[in-house]
Amino acid sequence: MTVNPSKKLQGEIIVPGDKSISHRAVMFGAIAQGITEVDGFLMGLDCLSTIECFAKMGVQIEIFPRNKIKIHGNGLHGLKAPTSTLYTGNSGTTTRLLIGLLAGQKFESTIDGDESIRKRPMQRVVSPLKEMGAHITGQENDNYCPLTIKGRPLQGIRYKLPIASAQLKSALLLASLYAEDQVLIIEPQKSRDHSELMLNYFGANITMEGDTIYSRPVSKLEAQHITVPGDISSAAYFLTAGLIVPNSEITIKNVGINPTRTGIIDVLTAMGGNIKTSNIRTVNNEPIGDITVYSSSLSGTVIEGDIIPRLIDEIPVIAVAASVAKGTTIIKDAQELKVKESNRIQTVVTELKKAGVDITETEDGMIIHGGKNIHGAAFESYGDHRIAMAMSITALAADSPSTIHGTEAVDISFPGFFEVLKGLQQ
Ligand code: S3P
Repeated sequence: MTVNPSKKLQGEIIVPGDKSISHRAVMFGAIAQGITEVDGFLMGLDCLSTIECFAKMGVQIEIFPRNKIKIHGNGLHGLKAPTSTLYTGNSGTTTRLLIGLLAGQKFESTIDGDESIRKRPMQRVVSPLKEMGAHITGQENDNYCPLTIKGRPLQGIRYKLPIASAQLKSALLLASLYAEDQVLIIEPQKSRDHSELMLNYFGANITMEGDTIYSRPVSKLEAQHITVPGDISSAAYFLTAGLIVPNSEITIKNVGINPTRTGIIDVLTAMGGNIKTSNIRTVNNEPIGDITVYSSSLSGTVIEGDIIPRLIDEIPVIAVAASVAKGTTIIKDAQELKVKESNRIQTVVTELKKAGVDITETEDGMIIHGGKNIHGAAFESYGDHRIAMAMSITALAADSPSTIHGTEAVDISFPGFFEVLKGLQQ
């Protein structure tokens, strides 16, 4: 894909449905009683992997035009033993959440994914589940896929998460639905809370008090109608593009603005970005709104600590904003980036260097001295959707055309990304 430098981006767009919320709608709908209708579902490859896995466990899921799906719930105890390996493709969320759900079933299952999934650590989920009584075996001390899960009765647990991970927290919340007594989870920092909000919407008994989450047993979940907000992690590319390309004004409508996800708005605003949020309302327990960005002159900043889980997936494109911004940006406490779809500290630094950016890799993040000329380059995605899109946004701010290899990866989370971009250039 060739991406040319841009002189102006203007328009009103929508972005595809939130990936985290789409996965959860399928999973919770599958174990609820009744039919869950979902509007605005993300038809990205990751969420389609989740649908495939539940279809293999006997759940009927209908797909309609215009991003609508219907899940015919089997009830909490109605999943069937899959006849073959549950294949999760490139999706960490599918893999980790499913492990939690499978631990308490009455059957045995095996879960596996693509090359990238086989490199992603699962111990973080496997270890507390074993403490609850789960039987899970896999590669290298049960840390890597393929993993085999023999369903077992589960006990409650009091568990302090060693990392702020919504995938880990959600795996434990799914297991808690099958546990004999309360599951208590303590978070080191608050990560996205879509599972808590949506499980309660379906009738679960989850309470949040400060950094502690309690999940108490319920006899059933009940089907609901879910409207999936636009994904702020997808909006992030256009928020950044609108700020760094001159003469731009972009409005992104119906974006999820759950405070556990809006770290990017806080950081870009602190960097001097002119960003306005309007039309704020709530759909199925989730806040949504329209976000408008105007070209702005950005300055460097420090990103560290509690904000990291609130913007973890946006760091590649924040690094692009920092490359254009005047001054130095330091990103710390982001070692989790090393175990994403690619090692995103390494891949972001390698790719931005190709464009002439003064950027250095550190143990837990990166340091960027921004404001220098950005050159067109031949970028690589490493099969990572967020790297493909971040480099496409870099290309808009470059002094000559760029090529991006491996752009098919964008279909993981943002089918139609390049069409939306083209629409803004006219
Ligand atoms: C997600 C949680 C985050 C995020 C991922 C989606 C989720 O991962 O990076 O893209 O839907 O729960 P971690 O839980 O590993 O931080």
